[in-house]
Amino acid sequence: MPTLQEARAQVITNYQQRTPKSAALYAQALRAMPGGDTRSSTFFAPYPTYIERGGGAQLTDVDGNVLLDFLGNYTSLIHGNAFPPVVEAARRQVELGSAWGAPNADQVRLATIICERVPSVELVRFTNSGTEATMQAIRAARAFTGRDVIVKIQGGYHGTHEAVSSGAGVPRGALDATIQVPFNDEAALSQVIAERGDQIAAVILEPMMGSFGMIPAQREYLHFVRKATQAANILMILDEVMTFRLDTGGTQAIYGVHPDLTSFAKIIGGGFPVGAFGGRTDIMALYDPRNVRVSHSGTFNGNPVTMAAGRVAMEHLTPDRIAHANALGDSLRRGLSEVLDEQRLHGQVTGIGSLVGIHLTAQPVTNHLGANSARPELKDALHLALINRGILQSHGTMLCTSTVMSESDITHAIEAFQDALVELKPALEIECPDLMR
Ligand SMILES: Cc1ncc(COP(=O)(O)O)c(C=O)c1O
Repeated sequence: MPTLQEARAQVITNYQQRTPKSAALYAQALRAMPGGDTRSSTFFAPYPTYIERGGGAQLTDVDGNVLLDFLGNYTSLIHGNAFPPVVEAARRQVELGSAWGAPNADQVRLATIICERVPSVELVRFTNSGTEATMQAIRAARAFTGRDVIVKIQGGYHGTHEAVSSGAGVPRGALDATIQVPFNDEAALSQVIAERGDQIAAVILEPMMGSFGMIPAQREYLHFVRKATQAANILMILDEVMTFRLDTGGTQAIYGVHPDLTSFAKIIGGGFPVGAFGGRTDIMALYDPRNVRVSHSGTFNGNPVTMAAGRVAMEHLTPDRIAHANALGDSLRRGLSEVLDEQRLHGQVTGIGSLVGIHLTAQPVTNHLGANSARPELKDALHLALINRGILQSHGTMLCTSTVMSESDITHAIEAFQDALVELKPALEIECPDLMR
């Protein structure tokens, strides 16, 4: 019987055999980038898969392996890869000029689409990333309230700027200005507001926490956050960077909550770099160029190619297409859960609609404590075992569906999961008896 480490070593050997050209590129990359990569999230051991091209639901790596794309560039490719209407819009725009130091018509159209779809967003501004979107939403909240402190969820990810990060390089002043509370925990937030409410500018959270594995907010919790912040004149920033794909009105429409500010990114750029933040007119007025109180420039904000691609992607994101991607996500969740049942393994498959998280744990997963990350070796082995079977997903074993997928893609992913668990199960029996039913 192999140990988990031995089982993982076998998975890695299989991976190395199918990806020699990725290995060679990684060896070169090590000479030019620290650890050979430029995004913390895309790296995994022994080296990441280098992609050559994509089309629809499929990617082809540099070794010619075909992968089903359940990563979608971290949930941003709602219409899959190289979606023809987006390709056409981007190509047309590149021919007309890829960047101008001036606004453009698609920027107006995309802003209008967002404001029309999301009632809490009366006015919106564009950025180049979700990181910048949450950074500006926090800046706006601080400027509007005259307070400095931000409350975020423990383990929540809102990008890499200082107000929402911890660890090396983040100055003490920034750490002191951010309070972290556990997710889905009303008492913890109540206590923080009772103790420091008059210093708090905003509470920022996702309606479903992507960073620790697609764990939805409990409905009462999200409504509690809204009421508690309102009562203390604290702004509520809902980070819909990942979750805007779940409904035309975002996940705030599903929950029926009305935040003061919302951050967006990912799908709204049609596959190009993008971000946006928006909300109440009186808050967003801080950015009015006729009377600037918060300055916010950016050489590529509202970039014409991004705006053209994003507008077309959003126009094609009709309620029917969202329902299709969400139904495929439901079907995937159901199938993966059935595999866990058949294999007599404890685990939970979380998420809403097109966003799916796999957690091999007997703990209930309602916050970061229950999530998969407790067992990195198992997570790594499962992630790579799925890639070996042609399923690309995030390193934390999160998957997303897209509007261009079909039931056969879902069946393929479910079969791959079954097969991967069969490969790993002998090791799990030895080292993870708590996972056995
Ligand atoms: C909820 C959430 N907020 C913010 C970000 C940061 O967005 P970006 O990677 O575009 O900077 C992400 C990225 O994954 C995210 O998931």
